[in-house]
Amino acid sequence: MGPQAGGGNEVTALVELTGVSKFYGNIKALQDVSLQVHPGEISCVLGDNGAGKSTLIKIIAGLHQHDAGTFAVEGEERRLASPREALDLGIATVYQDLAVVPLMPVWRNFFLGSEPTRGTGPFKRLDVDTMRRTTRSEMLRMGIDLRDVDQPIGTLSGGERQCVAIARAVHFGAKVLVLDEPTAALGVKQSGVVLKYVAAARDAGLGVVLITHNPHHAHLVGDRFVLLKRGTMAGSHTKDEISLDELTRQMAGGSELEQLSHELERAPAPDLSRDGGSRG
Ligand SMILES: Nc1ncnc2c1ncn2[C@@H]1O[C@H](COP(=O)(O)OP(=O)(O)OP(=O)(O)O)[C@@H](O)[C@H]1O
Ligand SMILES: [Mg+2]
Repeated sequence: MGPQAGGGNEVTALVELTGVSKFYGNIKALQDVSLQVHPGEISCVLGDNGAGKSTLIKIIAGLHQHDAGTFAVEGEERRLASPREALDLGIATVYQDLAVVPLMPVWRNFFLGSEPTRGTGPFKRLDVDTMRRTTRSEMLRMGIDLRDVDQPIGTLSGGERQCVAIARAVHFGAKVLVLDEPTAALGVKQSGVVLKYVAAARDAGLGVVLITHNPHHAHLVGDRFVLLKRGTMAGSHTKDEISLDELTRQMAGGSELEQLSHELERAPAPDLSRDGGSRG
C-alpha cells in the first residue's frame, strides 16, 4: 500500500513505518504496525490505554528502537539512536508532560536550548530582544495573541502551553510534528484552540502525527487514521474511507461495548450498602 519506489504519482512519505514491532522484554507492545506521514497532512493514531500509541511515537522520536519492520524518514531507512538524531532529521515531538520550566518566561521556554546570542567573546550575551520579539510574532502568526511574553509559562493554560510547544517546533524548522495526546487534559474550548493550531502546522506544510483517544478530535483534523488495539493495527483508513460514526464505533470497540451494555443490564446490582461491608 505504501508508496513504492518508482511507483508513479506516489510521493515519498516524510515518515513511513512498515510492519513495525516492538518488545519490552516479553511484552509485545507493538506488532506489525504501519503508518505513513505526508507533508501537509495529519496522521492520527487512535487507541485505548496500553494500545501502544506512546511506544509508536517513541520509535519515531528516537527514544526507542523497533525490533522488526522498517522505519524510513524521507525514503531512507533509519534506526534512530537518540531524540537528538530525530530532531536533526526534522522530527519534533511534543510530549504530554511538556518539558517546560514553569517559572521562566514564555520567551525563555520558546528558545530553551537554542538561544540566539549577540556579540562575540566576552561581549557575547543572550539576544533577549530578538527572543521576545520572535516569540510574540511566531505566536501571533499562528493566531495567538499573548498579552505578555514575559509572563512565566506556568501561568499559561494547558492549551496555550501546547500551542507554544507547537509554535516552537514550527519556528525551528521541524518537518514532522509528533503530538502525544495534546488535548487529553483539556476542555472543549481549549481543545479547539490546540486543534486549530495543529491544523495551522499542517497548513505550514508539516507532516503531523496526532495521538489521541478522541475520535471526534481525530476526525475533525485528520487525513489518515491508524487504530491500535493491544499493540496490533485494528484499522488503517484515509478520511474519505471512514465516517466519524464508524471511527467512533471502531475506537469504542463496537462489539465490546455491546457486550458491556448486556452485562450492565443483566448483572444484579452489587450491594454497596454500608452493612454489606466488614466494617461499619
Ligand atoms: N518501558 C516499558 N517497559 C515495559 N513495558 C512497557 C513500557 N512502556 C510501555 N509498556 C507496555 O507496552 C504497552 C503499550 O504501552 P504504551 O505506553 O505505548 O500505550 P499507550 O497506547 O500510549 O497507552 P496510554 O493511552 O495509557 O498512554 C502497555 O502494555 C505498557 O504496559
Ligand atoms: Mg501513551
